Amino acid sequence: MTDFRTPVSLGTTGLKVGRLGIGSSFGASTKVIEDAAERGANYLYWGSIRRPAFGRAMGNLARRDRASVVLTIQSYSRVPALIAPSVEISLRRVGVEYFDFLLLGKWDKRPGDGLLEAALRLKEQGKVRHLMMSTHNRPLLASMFEEYDKGESPFDVFMFRYNAVHRGAEKDVFPFLPAGPKPGILTYTTTRWGHLLDPKKMPPGETPPPASDCYRFALSNENVDVALCGPADEAQMEEALRALERGPLKPDERERIERIGDFIYGRHKPNYEDLGD
Ligand SMILES: NC(=O)c1ccc[n+]([C@@H]2O[C@H](COP(=O)([O-])OP(=O)(O)OC[C@H]3O[C@@H](n4cnc5c(N)ncnc54)[C@H](OP(=O)(O)O)[C@@H]3O)[C@@H](O)[C@H]2O)c1
Repeated sequence: MTDFRTPVSLGTTGLKVGRLGIGSSFGASTKVIEDAAERGANYLYWGSIRRPAFGRAMGNLARRDRASVVLTIQSYSRVPALIAPSVEISLRRVGVEYFDFLLLGKWDKRPGDGLLEAALRLKEQGKVRHLMMSTHNRPLLASMFEEYDKGESPFDVFMFRYNAVHRGAEKDVFPFLPAGPKPGILTYTTTRWGHLLDPKKMPPGETPPPASDCYRFALSNENVDVALCGPADEAQMEEALRALERGPLKPDERERIERIGDFIYGRHKPNYEDLGD
């Protein structure tokens, strides 16, 4: 993959997505999200915090051209009966008939049958088109990929942590991807909660990389379809979008961001522990 501006097919869903996805947690305005989607960042994820301004952007874009955006709703629910009401309220709030993905968030083991049945029912009803799972237990994914390879997976896409500090997925996830048709792969925590951009966390004499280098790091891995960003404002959105223009990291840029990543890994604890880190 030498050009980040070209959309990719997400697994076998048939959906075409821009390489930079946008999460709603950090507060960018409706206009900022709409403009970014129109410039190709068409994967919009209403989670982990469902901010109203982000939901409005999803609705406005969908009304203009529903097929041009890929919309994801997340549920952290462990109670099967709570999933449908939460998705239905969100459909009404956004003003769409379906979400492209229901993301079952933060599963450190395979979700139980009751929960999967509730999610699959929403799929049968046409309220969501596909299922996705996120995990903070990366080693779990090898078994999920095995299930996918047998054609038995309820999930079309998987999401997990990958950044220049936490590169464990290179050992415990990517080598286990099926040789045949692959699931879609999304990654998050690309800036490591901003640590990779913090002058106080740099090795002596080093200045922080631009945020776009964090997204370029994740997207330079051939297994990653979409890297998520979490813009708080227009300037952060612009900087994230710059990753698409700048393309894959050059060898010296990779060497530098990995050196910074190694330094941070040893000295600054993660905000949340991931199994496999
Ligand atoms: N389901 C799950 O298990 C899961 C797990 C992790 C994340 N997520 C979600 O994934 C989405 C993306 O989150 P993320 O943490 O991966 O996003 P991210 O882009 O790696 O991090 C966002 C943080 O980086 C900072 N930042 C981003 N761009 C910047 C820039 N240009 N200059 C300076 N600082 C910048 C922001 O700092 P300030 O806030 O200080 O401005 C913000 O705190 C969110 O919706 C999040 O909730 C979901």
